[in-house]
Amino acid sequence: MKFQLKSDSISKLSADIIILAINKSNKLCSSLSLNKSFQDNLNLIIKLDDLSKDTGSVNIEHIHGAFKRVCFVRIQNQDSFTEEDLLKSAKNIFKTFKSIKCGVIALPINQFVNKKINEGTVANLFTKAAIDASYEVNSLKSDKKVSKNNYQINFQANKLDSNFIKLGIKEGQAIAEGMNLTKDLGNLPPNICTPTYLANQAKKIAKDFKMKSTILSQKQIEQLKMGSFLSVAKGSRLEPKFIIIEHKKGKKSSKPIVLVGKGITFDSGGISLKPGAAMDEMKYDMCGAATVLGVMKTIGLLNLPLNVVGLIPACENMPDGLAVKPGDIVTSMSGQTIEILNTDAEGRLVLCDALTYAERYKPETVIDIATLTGACVIALGHHASAVFSKSDDLANDLLEAGKKSIDKAWRMPIWDEYQPLLNSNFADIANIGGRAAGSITAACFLSRFTKKYSWAHIDIAGTAWNSGANKGATGRPVSLLSQFLIHKTKK
Ligand code: BES
Ligand code: MN
Ligand code: ZN
Repeated sequence: MKFQLKSDSISKLSADIIILAINKSNKLCSSLSLNKSFQDNLNLIIKLDDLSKDTGSVNIEHIHGAFKRVCFVRIQNQDSFTEEDLLKSAKNIFKTFKSIKCGVIALPINQFVNKKINEGTVANLFTKAAIDASYEVNSLKSDKKVSKNNYQINFQANKLDSNFIKLGIKEGQAIAEGMNLTKDLGNLPPNICTPTYLANQAKKIAKDFKMKSTILSQKQIEQLKMGSFLSVAKGSRLEPKFIIIEHKKGKKSSKPIVLVGKGITFDSGGISLKPGAAMDEMKYDMCGAATVLGVMKTIGLLNLPLNVVGLIPACENMPDGLAVKPGDIVTSMSGQTIEILNTDAEGRLVLCDALTYAERYKPETVIDIATLTGACVIALGHHASAVFSKSDDLANDLLEAGKKSIDKAWRMPIWDEYQPLLNSNFADIANIGGRAAGSITAACFLSRFTKKYSWAHIDIAGTAWNSGANKGATGRPVSLLSQFLIHKTKK
């Protein structure tokens, strides 16, 4: 995939296809300055009035001249076109391009610019959509021919804004490549994507981007007294790994942002075994970890001047003769004792020790990302990730980043009123709070381990992957978190 900036007028360009925005009155953007014969050809097509009418819908037309094809995209009204409409349009465009042979694409930027959308945003969203759409599942089908789309996109604009456009492209590219890594890790089968596999990925990222990685073995995890994390790992034959990856490109004096990702490489439920239907999808229970690695790749590609630490407690949740049982009481690294009433509520058990470990970085902020609860899917469905935080500023920054990157999130309460649902007769806290407010009580559980810093929890159970015919990881919320971090560098 190649991205270039052309400041020539459109009449001087040629390409396999040109993308043209058309409004609801069948008018092209007036600033285009197309040559006469090309314009005449377009008018013949447009006059037929059979181009799709929905916002963001796409029609491909063949045509003679410097452009072999035209891709019309319906924008309705250039002034009220939103960033979300733009991303939707870009996604439709590249989905359609998958089935045609277009190498070089001409994309005049101005037709999408208005009061709210600048040139950089247009370049950013188109770049992101192009790379995102080019993702092919790393499938293990033996007859599969890998056919990656390889475009050259020529963004056409006047020179004045070229720096914004270049930055938009660079950030879009870095984010989409981070997302594609997250998708790859999520989609891999759980017999391949094990705790050790995730650890090796962290090592690779550290090597590629001059970061530091540290992989703690079971023995070292025992020495740290992470009794809660270890209780989950006990049912698996695979060794747990505690993965640390550090990007230290900020000022020495600036406190790090710590990202903690749930890394359950398969969640069978353990002794509280899950029902069989769709259990394969619990290979995606490491998508929090994959998000952390994807974001590390993005900030590595951008070489962001920040200090960011990624922490990943990685293990399987399996049933076994030695597995943790309902009724067992374990001692977390914080010293708090936990009565495990359901071994399927394992995410919080691995995260709580990682959250305690995060204290040693004296962090500015800690954000954990986890496919934590089915209840979150019931509450918000598949469109928004859930943000929990006692800090209004942090929650708002995350929601804003989600809006800007069109990787939406919605805030949920984490009020103290919910805490008593976690009372245990025998230990400091129980690991489940009953059926009511399941995603909130899970967040409340984590909050008990985050008293020493500013913290947010993002439940991605509904957004990390798609089920059904389009089963596959989405790469969310890499975009949201990358935007959050990029924004920090611009403050
Ligand atoms: N990984 C699951 C949450 C999950 C389930 C995510 C389905 C996406 C789709 C988590 O470990 C889990 O099993 N949570 C339980 C908690 C319950 C036992 C309190 C759940 O949500 O049912
Ligand atoms: Mn579970
Ligand atoms: Zn789980």
